[in-house]
Amino acid sequence: MRHLLDTTDLSLQEIDEMISLAMDIINNKAKYSHICDGKKLATLFFEPSTRTRLSFEAAMYELGGNVLGFSEAASSSASKGESVSDTIRMVSCYADIIAMRHPLEGAPRVAAQKSGVPIINAGDGGHAHPTQTLTDLLTIYREKGTFDNLTIGLCGDLKFGRTVHSLIKAMSRYKNVKFVLISPKELAVPDYIKTDVLIPGNIKFAEVEKMDAVMPQLDILYMTRIQRERFFSEDEYLKHKDAFILDLKKLENAKSDLTIMHPLPRVNEIATEVDDDPRAKYFVQALNGKYIRMALIMTLLKWGENE
Ligand code: CP
Repeated sequence: MRHLLDTTDLSLQEIDEMISLAMDIINNKAKYSHICDGKKLATLFFEPSTRTRLSFEAAMYELGGNVLGFSEAASSSASKGESVSDTIRMVSCYADIIAMRHPLEGAPRVAAQKSGVPIINAGDGGHAHPTQTLTDLLTIYREKGTFDNLTIGLCGDLKFGRTVHSLIKAMSRYKNVKFVLISPKELAVPDYIKTDVLIPGNIKFAEVEKMDAVMPQLDILYMTRIQRERFFSEDEYLKHKDAFILDLKKLENAKSDLTIMHPLPRVNEIATEVDDDPRAKYFVQALNGKYIRMALIMTLLKWGENE
């Protein structure tokens, strides 16, 4: 049995196979509509979500399976003090696969130790969000046709933005990828991303505080929201809340084939006028999330059967 706790749990070949499977699902939807007949996915969301939870649920329904779960800790027995370990022991009696989101970093790893079924990390605190990264990889593949030789600008809250941490880890495994990390100093990527991933991997990266000067270099611009819920004080959040707002003026110097991504939800960091620009791919990205999650559910269930 395999779990998905971090993107690096998957080899590059396994990621390639999952992307190929997602592409086949996109092109031959009817072929997959009964693959998960009789199977159940549990979505255990101890933290709010729109895209991740609903795309997991849509993915399982489109594969012919069923879904059970909860969308907030308050409606589960966690509110009575039940531990993550006990919750997972119970739910793994009721479901064939579990996608969980939890505010505590490492909670899905604890869950995996007690689970009888595959656990998918659907976001743990400020740490990782591997299925968002698979979504991002599918989007990059569909837009660029390759993962190599790309200059990727990551902009916004790079400290608390777990999607950024997971994406850097994933894209650092491909050839000649460069990162431009655009954030206020206080919201720079955590040191461990530099010491454990970028520096040992000999990955080129630059840290800057403004996006204008670097815009012409970028193949991908990955915008992120300032993560209000992870700040220790509201004043700290207010200081940074509108640090970056991407608008059409800022895109004047960008490449004509720039891909603009955002894991969503957006707050103010992309003006709505950008939505109609052909380079804006964040809503397609959200749709890709459903297809890659279909591929992931199929893959983890298949690996479980092969035990
Ligand atoms: N991208 C993402 O994780 O969105 P949700 O918080 O709505 O799931």
